[in-house]
Amino acid sequence: MFTWSMWMLCVSVFTIRPEEHMVAAGSCQFHGRHPKTRFKVEGEPVAMRCPQVPYWDSATTHVSVTWRRNNSTTMVPGEEELRVWVQDGGLWIVPASRGDSGTYVCTVRNASYCDEMSVELRVFEKTEASLPLIFYPQIITLSASGLLVCPDLSEFIGNKTDVKIRWYKDSVPLDQDNEKFLSVRGTRLLVNNVSLEDAGYYQCAMTFAHRGRQYNITRNIKLRVKKREEETIPVIISPHQTISASLGSRLTIPCKVFLGAGIQATTLLWWTANNTHVEDAYKGGRVTEGQRQEYSENNDNYIEVPLIFDPVVREDLHTDFKCVVRNTMSFQMLRTTVKEAATFSWEITLAPLSLIFLVLGGIWMHRRCKRRTGKAYDLMMELKTSHDSQSYE
Ligand SMILES: *[C@@H]1O[C@H](CO)[C@@H](O)[C@H](O)[C@H]1NC(C)=O
Ligand SMILES: *[C@@H]1O[C@H](CO)[C@@H](O)[C@H](O)[C@H]1NC(C)=O
Ligand SMILES: *[C@@H]1O[C@H](CO)[C@@H](O)[C@H](O)[C@H]1NC(C)=O
Ligand SMILES: *[C@@H]1O[C@H](CO)[C@@H](O)[C@H](O)[C@H]1NC(C)=O
Ligand SMILES: *[C@@H]1O[C@H](CO)[C@@H](O)[C@H](O)[C@H]1NC(C)=O
Ligand SMILES: *[C@@H]1O[C@H](CO)[C@@H](O)[C@H](O)[C@H]1NC(C)=O
Ligand SMILES: *[C@@H]1O[C@H](CO)[C@@H](O)[C@H](O)[C@H]1NC(C)=O
Repeated sequence: MFTWSMWMLCVSVFTIRPEEHMVAAGSCQFHGRHPKTRFKVEGEPVAMRCPQVPYWDSATTHVSVTWRRNNSTTMVPGEEELRVWVQDGGLWIVPASRGDSGTYVCTVRNASYCDEMSVELRVFEKTEASLPLIFYPQIITLSASGLLVCPDLSEFIGNKTDVKIRWYKDSVPLDQDNEKFLSVRGTRLLVNNVSLEDAGYYQCAMTFAHRGRQYNITRNIKLRVKKREEETIPVIISPHQTISASLGSRLTIPCKVFLGAGIQATTLLWWTANNTHVEDAYKGGRVTEGQRQEYSENNDNYIEVPLIFDPVVREDLHTDFKCVVRNTMSFQMLRTTVKEAATFSWEITLAPLSLIFLVLGGIWMHRRCKRRTGKAYDLMMELKTSHDSQSYE
């Protein structure tokens, strides 16, 4: 009987162990570091979800989730189980200290499967809480209203609906009687009549109780207010109707379109030659469209697409070039023709001559004026002395 049970034990050891051993050591796939570093403030609770386990699957029963620090083989929590623990696959540290900064590896395994991923945690001193790294960027659009969200709280809130979030702008509490800001259900803040002045730094905070102690969980938000994107009627502001160029030279004609506050992405801009798209008209690529540029000057948006001749040939003088712009609001075009630049003209020959005349004329005028003002000055002095002598009589 004893030998029998010993034999059974050996069998069970050898049938169960190899499989477990294989999964444990050999085949755990490391998926690398999660790209998002967790930036937290010391003294506050931290909860990190295992990055490779989907949120809806975190309480799953058919996998086991373990955590360890990157440089050690011992599992978290280790000796500090009152402060650090694993719950529903997530790693909890309440409260976090700066020594908790580091790399954590989450291992997910079951009988047939194992994978790992690491997460970087950086815990900052409270005085460093203003560091830009800790800010969650958020964007709302200029409009009647917009929403801010107190981020990254789902672990602490779970399925609770009655969370109370305190909101601050630049550390000043946002009054609840305020019509401008309204804390709405859950973690959101409604901003009424969004204006550009609403951009800036916000803080939100909730209280979290653990083992009879209250902790604040704070989040910093950097809010950007974006202008509402809308389509406008584009205006082609260049090129000129005729462009002078010399045959054989390289020529660039920019087509510049003004959009005002309109969006650039949905506005199409292209060039045609004899009503054919430039790409089709010049298969050889002598004439091409240059890189499209989108830019803003004084809050107005522009798009520019140049037409590039390399080089200009005689045929171009008889070709009808058009810059065409289209969006949902309108369709417009502007025609331009290439003119041969005059290689000899009276203007060019006469230019130096007229300059000489101009200079000579200037000198003559200057002399004349000087003589006149001189005379006027003498006359004034004469009047003045006669006036003075009168008054002293
Ligand atoms: C182990 O986990 C993988 C991935 O989650 C799953 O596809 C598989 O069915 C699990 N196996 C067992 C035996 O639970
Ligand atoms: C974590 O440990 C592995 C080796 O165990 C090493 O290759 C990796 O660079 C470490 N990562 C960090 C961020 O320390
Ligand atoms: C792992 O690194 C942390 C800091 O990053 C350090 O406090 C700890 O002593 C290290 N553990 C081992 C086993 O090297
Ligand atoms: C919320 O979750 C807890 C467990 O985390 C559960 O016991 C409770 O029934 C849930 N409540 C609702 C309303 O879903
Ligand atoms: C929003 O602004 C408009 C005009 O500036 C004003 O009439 C309206 O009362 C404002 N609404 C709120 C909720 O502040
Ligand atoms: C939490 O925040 C409130 C309001 O700012 C403050 O009065 C309280 O002392 C804070 N509690 C802790 C534990 O820091
Ligand atoms: C455009 O048409 C004109 C006149 O019909 C012609 O001389 C010219 O070669 C044409 N250009 C192109 C690129 O087809």
